[in-house]
Amino acid sequence: MRHLHDTILIINLEDQSSRRIVHAVRDRQVFCEVVSSRRFLEDHDQVMTGRIRGIILAGSIPASIPGQFNERLEATDLPWLQIEGDLDDIKLRDFLVKDCGCQGDWTVQGYLEEMVDQIRQMVGDKKVICGLSGGVDSSVAAMLVYRAIGNQLTCIFVDHGFMRKDEAQEVRTMFSEDYKIPLIFVQAADRFLDRVENVLDPEVKRKRIGEEFIRIFEEEARELAADFLVQGTIYPDVIESGEDGQVVKSHHNVGGLPDRIHFEGIIEPLRLLFKEEVRELGRALGLPSTMVDRQPFPGPGLAIRCLGGVTREKLDILREADALFREAIEKEGYRDQVSQYFAVMTGLQSVGVTEGSRTYDYTIALRAVKTDDYMAAKAVEFPWDFLQRVSTRITQEVPQVSRVVYELTGKPPATIEWE
Ligand code: XMP
Repeated sequence: MRHLHDTILIINLEDQSSRRIVHAVRDRQVFCEVVSSRRFLEDHDQVMTGRIRGIILAGSIPASIPGQFNERLEATDLPWLQIEGDLDDIKLRDFLVKDCGCQGDWTVQGYLEEMVDQIRQMVGDKKVICGLSGGVDSSVAAMLVYRAIGNQLTCIFVDHGFMRKDEAQEVRTMFSEDYKIPLIFVQAADRFLDRVENVLDPEVKRKRIGEEFIRIFEEEARELAADFLVQGTIYPDVIESGEDGQVVKSHHNVGGLPDRIHFEGIIEPLRLLFKEEVRELGRALGLPSTMVDRQPFPGPGLAIRCLGGVTREKLDILREADALFREAIEKEGYRDQVSQYFAVMTGLQSVGVTEGSRTYDYTIALRAVKTDDYMAAKAVEFPWDFLQRVSTRITQEVPQVSRVVYELTGKPPATIEWE
């Protein structure tokens, strides 16, 4: 899927700066792509296809890059700009407009229309499948492909039983009933629970859930015999892998699928977009805010928020407490100040007292963070009375919980998830 607009090629010499530059260029409605210096050298001809109008070198040229790099750069005969350290906005604008002659006509709406055309051409009258995770990326990817080819698309949603309260049903209603998109809904909670019930190590949990997911998805995909697979890979997955070659989004959990089943092609309609652009595309496709503005949710779901062994009982308690916390944040107007928020089942039981009787119930931890990139994060400072209201509601409405704690730790040293 090639882009038809004026394009600026950003050569990533230093990981930290290229992302900032991509955003600055796209903010000026100029399309750009990032490539590593290695690809610029080794896949030069492939990288230089399309309407490339100029080159930005992001960072300083390391001594390890051979002199051949400069030769290649000069041979392109294109204007180029090196950006080291702070970004000078006026210099960037002059480079894009005056030196490269970019029109500044790249919009998400235009991208939508071009993608629809490209998908139609690629697919013809063949069959396509798409795995839905309930998250923003796979939903937007599915809606975009549906816009292009209608009922030639079938979506598969595997309910692993680790979704938040009512979430699996919401996905089902939205896709099957509201949008009438063909959907296979696989109820597989028992299969997943069997695989993780006594597993204590978080990485083993993730692995087992991923494997089971692929197995189920594969069973369904074989039956459908689709020719194309849709994946919701987005641009940070591509550039943050350190390389810009083939990357499959691991938390879609269908990452290994193309190796196990032969598809005529993989459709990655969001591959060139950042998260904010994906959300904008979702809005342009008419998806509701409840879907488009969703906070991130890990592929293995509540299984990694249920510390230690996962049981049905612990999952049910966590689901209720989490729903109450999320409802309070949304109702009391904190949604925009928080990037990610959820409850954690600590698995810890302790002594408490209810109506004069001794109890031995669970402790729920609440986590809410503010972050730009999820690589570093700060705990959100809620007003004390808000936290107290949430704590009271949880202990009153979820009888197996006798303590609620709020986490103060940032990332680092903690991670956002507890497992
Ligand atoms: P951490 O916990 O590493 O999380 O600070 C950073 C972001 O990644 C999400 N996360 C996951 N997402 N599968 C996913 O799809 C996972 O196994 C996983 N672990 C963490 C986390 O929710 C946060 O947004």
